[in-house]
Amino acid sequence: MKMKNDKWKIWDNNNKYGETLYKRATGELPEMESSKALAKIIQQKIGSPEKILDVGCGAGHYLKSLRNQLKAEFIYTGVDATKNYIELAKKAFADDREASFFVSDIYNLEVDDKSNDLVISCNLLLHLPAIVKPINELVRVAKDAVIIRLLCGERSFRIQDVHPEENGNEFTEDGNPINYYYYNIYSKDYLKNIFSKIERIDSYEIIDDLDYNCENIVNSIEEHQDYNATRLISGYQVNGYILQPWAFVILYLK
Ligand SMILES: C[S@@+](CC[C@H](N)C(=O)[O-])C[C@H]1O[C@@H](n2cnc3c(N)ncnc32)[C@H](O)[C@@H]1O
Repeated sequence: MKMKNDKWKIWDNNNKYGETLYKRATGELPEMESSKALAKIIQQKIGSPEKILDVGCGAGHYLKSLRNQLKAEFIYTGVDATKNYIELAKKAFADDREASFFVSDIYNLEVDDKSNDLVISCNLLLHLPAIVKPINELVRVAKDAVIIRLLCGERSFRIQDVHPEENGNEFTEDGNPINYYYYNIYSKDYLKNIFSKIERIDSYEIIDDLDYNCENIVNSIEEHQDYNATRLISGYQVNGYILQPWAFVILYLK
């Protein structure tokens, strides 16, 4: 079905976020806790993939943690729907001969079937209006495994994070958000249901992502200087007002 509008795609106008990701990619800001955690999981669960595709790569900043922590060499491709972020990624990793970046949409990846040993997609699926097609696309282009980072728990929630326009307006006359992205939490049962219908998935594992340095998370409040910085409540990460049950999902493929 054709979308009525694409108002949930707020990244095109968010240059400030792109700058933060770029600073992470160049080392001006520290690596993200989630990118370090992902690198550890790849090492423990997957081993040494020769080709990695990162979908929703932003400024390619996860590559920094992967290069720092993975022992073996690998070829990295980053794709993102936001042209501006891909330009920043190309600039940040201009000296890395084994890294390339291009614009592509997770709903219709311009990538060959099974062309990457490992496909990763972190912190993107929660922001999308629907995840069945994206998960199918990630599996299609992966050979051995897919790792996704998303919000998941016992129940599903559909949440719209409303971003005011420059003039402060948030909602249309009839009460719909003008600009927003989703902040969805999916139940483990729903994920199981999706995975059970994808023939190439042999097995899967859900690992709660609680592997972070609290001090580093708290310091990020200083970096962001806004309400959107990640905070901690009772050990859980909180962004805005949303308590986040982060998890890595590993799909092992046939
Ligand atoms: C929250 S950011 C996550 C960036 C990075 N993976 C991380 O974890 O820091 C979401 C990224 O997904 C990208 N994105 C949004 N919609 C997309 C789509 N349909 N296809 C590919 N990338 C998309 C955005 O441009 C943005 O860079």
